[in-house]
Amino acid sequence: MEVTLKVFRFNPDVDKKWRYETYKLEADPTDRVLDLLERVKGYTDGSLAFRRSCAHGVCGSDALRINGKNSLACKALVRDYGEKITVEPIMGLKVIKDLIVDMKPFFDNYKKILPFFINDSPLPADGKERRQSIEQRERFDDTTKCILCACCTTSCPSFWASDDYLGPAAMVTAHRFIFDSRDESASERLHILSETSGIARCHTVFNCTMACPREIQITKAIGELKLAMVTGNLE
Ligand code: SF4
Ligand code: F3S
Ligand code: FES
Repeated sequence: MEVTLKVFRFNPDVDKKWRYETYKLEADPTDRVLDLLERVKGYTDGSLAFRRSCAHGVCGSDALRINGKNSLACKALVRDYGEKITVEPIMGLKVIKDLIVDMKPFFDNYKKILPFFINDSPLPADGKERRQSIEQRERFDDTTKCILCACCTTSCPSFWASDDYLGPAAMVTAHRFIFDSRDESASERLHILSETSGIARCHTVFNCTMACPREIQITKAIGELKLAMVTGNLE
């Protein structure tokens, strides 16, 4: 099939304003949008800038807006988008060049919720690992799947309004640690979530859940955090 690929272009060194460039490409329905971008870069215009690494949905580096919806380019099949495909940078972050955005505000927010295991208590007497029951592990299993692609946060209207909003990705990681029975900093993290740019700015829009390539139930996780803040119950 022939695909018309329309790509957002902006090079701050030479362009006064962003523009779109269109490329006609032969593609198989099972090609991925990332394959099309690689083909343009490899054979038509080597100046096209975009991020990618693993090409298998693991590293989270190629989040893009494809036909208006956030997706990983390496998981987006041509057959699901049709003959006309528009590729743009994810929204709410400054464009550095073409499809590459400045991820600093995203990772600054992520760092605020202390995205690491905290437990200063001594190890159990047998010196082995801190054990958990199957049920305790299942409590936060879903939120361990995050690959920090930013598809969620950059589809959230609260983040578009202000990039100091913690955003759903940071809250997913907060959930992952707050409900981990081995971690000892739940109250500190809940306090961070309660601050001005925190969880109160989530208005249950659900864009984040719909955008997540790992199918994490983000809005549900945020709801569980809100409940924990009110009840103090981490079960
Ligand atoms: Fe990406 Fe999903 Fe993690 Fe958000 S929660 S950063 S959409 S993997
Ligand atoms: Fe935004 Fe998701 Fe809440 S889209 S408003 S973080 S439910
Ligand atoms: Fe790694 Fe797509 S390139 S997730």
